[in-house]
Amino acid sequence: VMKIIKVQDQTMGGKAGFAQFDAALKQGASTFGLATGSTPITIYEEIVASDLDFSEKTSINLDEYVGLSGDDVQSYAYFMHEHLFNAKPFAQSYVPNGLAEDADAEVKRYEEIIDANPIDLQLLGLGQNGHIGFNEPGTSFNETTHKVTLTQSTIDANARFFEDENDVPRYAYSMGIASIMKSKNILLVAYGEAKAAAVAAMIEGPVTEDMPASVLQNHANVTVIVDEAAASKLS
Ligand code: F6R
Repeated sequence: VMKIIKVQDQTMGGKAGFAQFDAALKQGASTFGLATGSTPITIYEEIVASDLDFSEKTSINLDEYVGLSGDDVQSYAYFMHEHLFNAKPFAQSYVPNGLAEDADAEVKRYEEIIDANPIDLQLLGLGQNGHIGFNEPGTSFNETTHKVTLTQSTIDANARFFEDENDVPRYAYSMGIASIMKSKNILLVAYGEAKAAAVAAMIEGPVTEDMPASVLQNHANVTVIVDEAAASKLS
């Protein structure tokens, strides 16, 4: 069952997303699945400005680039510290280790962390092509945490953040669709016209690996926050 919350813009979406975190805390949630990218920023701003306390909670991030240390300004670990953890520390915050020497061991270790700390509320953004985490169209719904080869379009999209195109990571670690589906509650957020087709396909289209987010139709407890532009192709 998907509950749809329509908001005017990303600022109001931040408030609506904050309310979901607030409610989860009041219900005793202990583990939060977190995302990077532009979408969650206003939610994190609302959390930072609030008196919510995560100091006894656990966070588990969706993904990280392979080859980057957590101190690298391009890493997702760095993003999380800048936007949330510096102001609102958690007791434990997990992000895949981009410098792990053994990729197979790293993805196994990370999935064990997820299993040991069941996620009460997982925050997701949405790719224009329907990806969630780094699970691009065609990814099996059965995948747990795995190493992903980034598509050329993702590399191109990320190139603007790097001095040299050759510095753009080629691989990432990502929770898989099956990892994400283990979460008790999922909060997916999408803003803007560019996401409208993916939002409509996710909610109203067939459940197919060609549209990774459509798998959420099979989850019992999903809330979707969309602005008017992102909701514009819903019937
Ligand atoms: C981020 C992530 C990605 C983004 C998605 C949307 O950790 O896993 O799936 O959520 O690419 O990105 P933005 O929010 O920048 O539009």
